[in-house]
Order: sequence, then structure tokens, then C-alpha cells
Amino acid sequence: MALTTLAYISEARPGLLLKDLKQILRRSREKNHRHGVTGYLVFDGTYFAQILEAEEAVLDVLLPTIVADDRHEDLRLLLWEPIIERNFGDWCMGCANLAAPVHLDTSELRGLIRDVVGQRSLSLPDAVDFFQLFVSFRTPQQAALLTL
Ligand SMILES: Cc1cc2nc3c(=O)[nH]c(=O)nc-3n(C[C@H](O)[C@H](O)[C@H](O)COP(=O)(O)O)c2cc1C
Repeated sequence: MALTTLAYISEARPGLLLKDLKQILRRSREKNHRHGVTGYLVFDGTYFAQILEAEEAVLDVLLPTIVADDRHEDLRLLLWEPIIERNFGDWCMGCANLAAPVHLDTSELRGLIRDVVGQRSLSLPDAVDFFQLFVSFRTPQQAALLTL
């Protein structure tokens, strides 16, 4: 049994709606809870960035399913690495939706995602830092981003 983490970036299908994102999350949370998958998803209106943690055998099955999902395309795997312990153990799938219509300047956060889009791979510490940044939004304004 080898606990493993993966991270990827992908491009949302044009025209993806909020209800599509909600549906993805609902199904993901059900299935992830059942299969011991934890992680975090960021959506900026164009790109998805996701980190997943589970037994390697579970990720071996889940990743091809996610790749084949036509709600996004051009999935690029940036990280696949064994881990000793989970970094997102509290989340069966947390989500920050930067495309949410909140009156908050998200340009800096969007910039961070664009940085990741340009990467060929991510180190484990960089990936954890990137996603933890979204998890750690705890001011009321920032929390408004985490509506999903
Ligand atoms: C951006 C994105 C992230 C997803 N994340 C997960 C996930 O964390 N866990 C999961 O089970 N499915 C996830 N899915 C959904 C899968 O692609 C797939 O639709 C789902 O697992 C199918 O389950 P079912 O055939 O058992 O209904 C994601 C899909 C997208 C587009």
C-alpha cells in the first residue's frame, strides 16, 4: 500500500457552467469519500488545477477516468509521487472557484494559476504550497471565494 499524490492542470471545456462545476464536486466528494481520496481543486474560469491523494492503486483507476472526462481537456500531469502522510486530509475535495462573481480582486491568484500553466512539472513542496494557499484563505472576503 503506497500513499501517493498527483497534481495536474487542465483546460475547462468552453462554456462550462457553475452547475457543471457543482456536479463535478458533488460526484467527486461522494466517490472520494468512499475511496479514501483527499485533495483540492482550483478553477479560475479557464483552467482547473487539482491535487489528489490516495493509495496508488486508487489513483491508477481514477486518473484515466478524470482524463477521459469531456468537461475538460489537455490535462497535463505535473506531479506523481509517493507521500508519507496526507497534506489535504481534511478535504474529500475542497474547491476554490476564482470565477465566482465576488467583488474581490482575484488577479493575483489568477496570476499564480497562469504560472502553474507554464510549468512542465511541480515539486511536491511547490504543489502543496500552491494548493495550501487557497485552503488558507480565512478572511471573510477570501472565504467568499470558497463557496463551493
Ligand atoms: C476537473 C475535474 C476534477 C474531477 N475530480 C474528481 C475527483 O476528485 N474524484 C472523482 O471521483 N471524480 C472526479 N472527477 C469526475 C470524473 O472525471 C468522473 O466523471 C467521475 O469519477 C465518474 O464517476 P462515475 O462514472 O462513477 O459516475 C473530476 C472531473 C473533472 C472534470
